[in-house]
Amino acid sequence: MGQISGGVVLITGASSGIGKALANHLYQKGYKVYGTSRKQPSLSEVAKKHSNGGFLKMIPLDVCSGDSVRKAVQLVLHEEGQIDILINNAGMGIGGAVEDTTIAEAKQEFDINFFGVLRMCREVLPGMRARKNGLIINIGSVAGIYAIPYQSMYSASKYALEAMTEALRMETKQFGIRVSLVEPGDTKTGFTNNRQLVAASQDSAYQKDCLKSINNMAKSEQKASQPKAILKIVERLITKKNPPVRVTVGWDYKLMVFAKRIVPARLIEWIVPKLY
Ligand SMILES: NC(=O)c1ccc[n+]([C@@H]2O[C@H](COP(=O)([O-])OP(=O)(O)OC[C@H]3O[C@@H](n4cnc5c(N)ncnc54)[C@H](OP(=O)(O)O)[C@@H]3O)[C@@H](O)[C@H]2O)c1
Repeated sequence: MGQISGGVVLITGASSGIGKALANHLYQKGYKVYGTSRKQPSLSEVAKKHSNGGFLKMIPLDVCSGDSVRKAVQLVLHEEGQIDILINNAGMGIGGAVEDTTIAEAKQEFDINFFGVLRMCREVLPGMRARKNGLIINIGSVAGIYAIPYQSMYSASKYALEAMTEALRMETKQFGIRVSLVEPGDTKTGFTNNRQLVAASQDSAYQKDCLKSINNMAKSEQKASQPKAILKIVERLITKKNPPVRVTVGWDYKLMVFAKRIVPARLIEWIVPKLY
């Protein structure tokens, strides 16, 4: 068996959407959950307790700042002595054509979705290695399997996360650390409103197609279901001794991911722009 109820969980980006749902679910299942937000938590968010011993505490964290990451991890280690499970969930999307994306905008996307995960792992892994136990769950995306036009930097950051997860898993197995990636498809969260557009998209040769594509994506996300299916998947990963490298959320998306392996690339290039 893997980690059972009662363990210490650190979830990045727990103020909204998937992270918030996970934090609330896991503390009710008896885990000691530390959820994070860049904002100072409100008093009502500071601590929620359950009669089963589980609790949820919100603490400040910006995954783009090494100093902030260090302080958040040290705070949990100081209070609990260990972190059993790290869920790297914090993330955001940037929309816009490749040609319109500045290096600074691309770096901003990678700073949160990719380097943010690296910063968290580097800070949490020494403790897990010393105890020869731990679980890291990275929240990827189906966009890490299928590149989406006008969301190239988001897709690229999630493709990169797939690679880092695969390598990290092989490197840390010897220390008893399990690593998995969860790939949600469209999910109704704050992600849609928080998506940014690259500055040049307002006056661009791609403007019409880009806005159409982003609007279709936004509609699809807002029509999608809430993060409920992800909760069950994460709960299952936590209790597994040998969790799989990746789990795609939902049968429709599982089928899409499988299709990527067998369908010719030219056919995929024809279908994906029709969807968005
Ligand atoms: N929604 C979807 O359709 C979908 C699909 C596939 C994958 N995902 C992935 O799921 C994860 C969660 O997204 P969501 O849909 O739940 O979006 P969301 O509702 O916008 O939540 C994003 C969370 O990330 C946090 N965050 C953003 N920037 C941060 C930073 N620099 N440092 C620390 N925390 C930061 C936000 O917290 P504060 O603003 O309070 O700091 C917030 O709690 C992301 O990795 C996303 O890529 C989402």
